[in-house]
Amino acid sequence: MSDQLIIFDTTLRDGEQSPGASMTRDEKLRIARQLERLKVDVIEAGFAAASNGDFESIQGIAHAIKDSTICSLSRANDRDIARAAEALKGANRARIHTFIATSPLHMEKKLRMTPEQVLEQAKQAVRFGRNLIEDIEFSAEDGYRSDPEFLARVIEAVIKEGATTINVPDTVGYAIPELYGNFIKDLRERVPNSDKAIWSVHCHNDLGMAVANSLAGVKIGGARQIECTINGLGERAGNCSLEEVVMAIKTRKDYFGLDVNIDTKHIVAASRMVSQTTGFVVQPNKAVVGANAFAHASGIHQDGVLKARDTYEIMRAEDVGWTANKIVLGKLSGRNAFKQRLQELGVELDSEAAINQAFTRFKELADRKSEIFDEDILALVNADGASHQEDPFHFVSLAQQSETGERPHATVVFSSQGREVKAESDGNGPVDASFKAIESEVKSGAEMVLYSVNAISGSTESQGEVTVRLQRNGRVVNGVGADPDIVVASAKAYLSALNKLHSNMEVVAAQG
Ligand code: KIV
Ligand code: ZN
Repeated sequence: MSDQLIIFDTTLRDGEQSPGASMTRDEKLRIARQLERLKVDVIEAGFAAASNGDFESIQGIAHAIKDSTICSLSRANDRDIARAAEALKGANRARIHTFIATSPLHMEKKLRMTPEQVLEQAKQAVRFGRNLIEDIEFSAEDGYRSDPEFLARVIEAVIKEGATTINVPDTVGYAIPELYGNFIKDLRERVPNSDKAIWSVHCHNDLGMAVANSLAGVKIGGARQIECTINGLGERAGNCSLEEVVMAIKTRKDYFGLDVNIDTKHIVAASRMVSQTTGFVVQPNKAVVGANAFAHASGIHQDGVLKARDTYEIMRAEDVGWTANKIVLGKLSGRNAFKQRLQELGVELDSEAAINQAFTRFKELADRKSEIFDEDILALVNADGASHQEDPFHFVSLAQQSETGERPHATVVFSSQGREVKAESDGNGPVDASFKAIESEVKSGAEMVLYSVNAISGSTESQGEVTVRLQRNGRVVNGVGADPDIVVASAKAYLSALNKLHSNMEVVAAQG
């Protein structure tokens, strides 16, 4: 059996299914580029038949990404599969991932199909897909709660039809490591042609065991593909987290004996990018990518680490891309130093013009903040850098008054379709006043479903990074803004969210 473990990232598909984590086409492309830098083997870029937006995102990623296989999810029907194949045209390497539920509960209650109908549909889907693309993954949704005998029949049949990867998801996060590992092992033993496909695990985290279950699926079950997401993003309690599972395989190579292609030094930047794009903050004590993951607070630990790192450290922070709180650049740093630092951080901006814009923003920040950390640079390109010249709204300036006993007041100046607008309002606090001021001109009518502030590098000197999540007519968007002044960061985040909503919004402020 191969000792190569395939890393299949589904941040852009299963991750995005998490309520509020929807991403724009540009954001997905930026994340896909970061996943390619990480050397992820397969990027599940979306679900082509789900919407035109998803279709176009997959199409864009398929054209831009050269090194990773690009995959689209599709239900087990000809229409979905044809749509997936269409979106994937132009990819260097393409995969169709088709799925149908196989558990008694899902077949009876959700699909209202008999097991024999499910079996036939699965075969037909793989046959149809195989005529379009060679690389076909078949997933038995709710596989872990399926009858092993029936599931083995389905798997044997789809492998005969040409499925090249077989995925057995724990869709509802119900598995226990040893049981899941043995479930996969037993299935592989039951399926006579099991050696003709690569076996894959896909675990949800409802009981907090997605990583452990995935690893058991590999160690006990013999799976050679793990499906995972950056930061464990995903529906409900999320998916198996890429950074944890990869670092477990690497750190305990003595136990797993497997290789992964992942270039781990891009992990922290990927985590930041996904967190800043979706507004899903990473908990400080999260393994590998949490702010405290490598912080030794207790005296005994600090003393030990200073004497010999491996007394308390099993991984090196720099191996996963941490360069925490290192002063990297300042006011006098030039464009070349800035560009080089971006490269070291794994950030690739699309053009020299984009680098120039980022450098201008860096200089503005350096004028106001003497020490610029890597975290500041990442925020600069992830938050502010995500805005575009063609966006209707751009932040210009903000003034606010707040005093104990007085109602706060804010004046926000922003450009709307190239025209400068001055908006004023009072509010419960300066942030509320700023949002009300902007809204008084823009009249988006959107509902705010999340507002969060995060200190980028820990202290009050750091930049505040604000996420604003807006919802209108069922559409949810995230806006992110960063600035040493959190009221300004908030206004930037609000305008950034409005920019994302604007595609179907009448721009009232522009009409004056
Ligand atoms: O969790 C699941 O079952 C899935 C499948 C569509 C692979 O995401
Ligand atoms: Zn899933």
